[in-house]
Amino acid sequence: MNGFVSIRKERRCQFVAHLKFMVKRLPRDASKTLIPLEASLAELQKITKSCKACDLWKNATQTVFGEGMPSAKIMFIGEQPGDQEDLQGKPFVGPAGKLLDSALAEAGIDRKKVYVTNAVKHFRWEPRGKRRIHKKPNATEIAACRPWLDAEIAALQPKVIVCLGATAAQALFGRDFRVTLHRGEFLKSPLAPFVMATVHPSSILRAPDAETRHEEMKRFIADLKKISRVIS
Ligand code: URA
Repeated sequence: MNGFVSIRKERRCQFVAHLKFMVKRLPRDASKTLIPLEASLAELQKITKSCKACDLWKNATQTVFGEGMPSAKIMFIGEQPGDQEDLQGKPFVGPAGKLLDSALAEAGIDRKKVYVTNAVKHFRWEPRGKRRIHKKPNATEIAACRPWLDAEIAALQPKVIVCLGATAAQALFGRDFRVTLHRGEFLKSPLAPFVMATVHPSSILRAPDAETRHEEMKRFIADLKKISRVIS
């Protein structure tokens, strides 16, 4: 028990040191947005509303912070909010979120018991006619948002972190990380006892035909089942 308490304490210290380091690395504009050390998720959510660490806030409806129980053991990290998420102010509530919900259910994981967030907290898009088309966030935007992700991880201290897709995985493991090479593996990381990267649910929605979609969904569920095993 004592060993467990001191590991938690040590991890907390590592996080605090990491947060201090990240706050120093914030771009000049972002340093106005101070992230208090040891902030709770509720406090962080309030502060992110006024984040202007990069330019994405200008065209987004609102900041989309993470959502879930503060006692959640599993944290999922996606790329950035999509059109629906931007409008509703909640992560993974659009088509990709629906697919994630059904994969979680198939893997025996209750969505209400997990924490879901994104590497980038504002919707990046470009107009195409009347539609807003998702545009991948760039490295500067991902780096500007990283302190929020670190603060969320520090506040939640999840047992498992799951990166959904390359953007989230590269935000944590660096730009050379390839989901295709390490998908479904538990990776060594100071961020949580179990860290895994798998595909983004949108990639399954984009599968070229029903058969591929079905196969990809099966593989995604198999990855989620590995998580289910380590938390039970
Ligand atoms: N895609 C993401 O990466 N995150 C969301 O919240 C929704 C879609």
